Amino acid sequence: MRDIRLDTITTAAEASFAGLAEPRQRELVQGLVRALHGYAREVGLTHAEWRGALAFLHRVGDISSAERSEFSLLSDVLGLSSLVDLLASRPGATPGSVLGPFHAVGSPWLDNPADLVRENTGEPVWLRGQVRSAAGAPLAGAVVDFWQNAANGLYWQVDPTQPRDNLRCQLRCDAEGRFAIRTIRPVPYPIPPDGPVWLDLVQPAGRGCWRPAHFHLILSAEGHTTLVTELFDAEDPHLASDAVFGVREALVARFEPPPAGGERVMAMDFRLAPA
Ligand code: BEZ
Ligand code: FE
Repeated sequence: MRDIRLDTITTAAEASFAGLAEPRQRELVQGLVRALHGYAREVGLTHAEWRGALAFLHRVGDISSAERSEFSLLSDVLGLSSLVDLLASRPGATPGSVLGPFHAVGSPWLDNPADLVRENTGEPVWLRGQVRSAAGAPLAGAVVDFWQNAANGLYWQVDPTQPRDNLRCQLRCDAEGRFAIRTIRPVPYPIPPDGPVWLDLVQPAGRGCWRPAHFHLILSAEGHTTLVTELFDAEDPHLASDAVFGVREALVARFEPPPAGGERVMAMDFRLAPA
């Protein structure tokens, strides 16, 4: 007979997963058991509190669908998504930042430089970038996957007034690793206000709902680690309170007026770590 007591339950639960054949999966599950038991011990978790937490997770599941993952949002507002990004960031490379829920594979391929402005209102601006290795060598033919929100704050997937694929594209950098996208200046964007993550967790904490204005980019080049990152508008008032902890100093840049006049330009150098 196994006599399960307060001082043996954690070891027993952890050992019960020793049969997982895949070593990394075993490490992940056993580490999770240790962390969850440590948490319950630290806070002295009660029955009522645990029932409340499970009911909250049920609500998170109930509002989730193929188009909307409230679980991802939960990970985002807990800082967990951003922690995973930071753990994956490599020395010498541009820091990673939150992928978010609005990336969709298969953006239209456009010629470089690309023009995404079309029928969009908002301030037309340029994003100019150069993609290099961590050692500084330009990465000819690097691929840029780009997306952002429209002037009303919404991404095309959740706004029937926008054309399909609005404000997103893929393109290939030139021989110097350079790319340019004419687009509109992004605007701040609130996390969804109708779900349990905002209503039961973030709002009661007195936190804000805003993501500061940002561009999303995925940069890839052969032999290099793909970078999922964001660029933030240095003039945005929400930089210090991003609801999902995505802001890094190295990812904040200004839209500068060009010396000869014309549309403002954000310029950024990106560094990719070796694969
Ligand atoms: C976004 O980048 O739009 C986003 C990221 C995380 C949660 C919600 C929105
Ligand atoms: Fe976004």
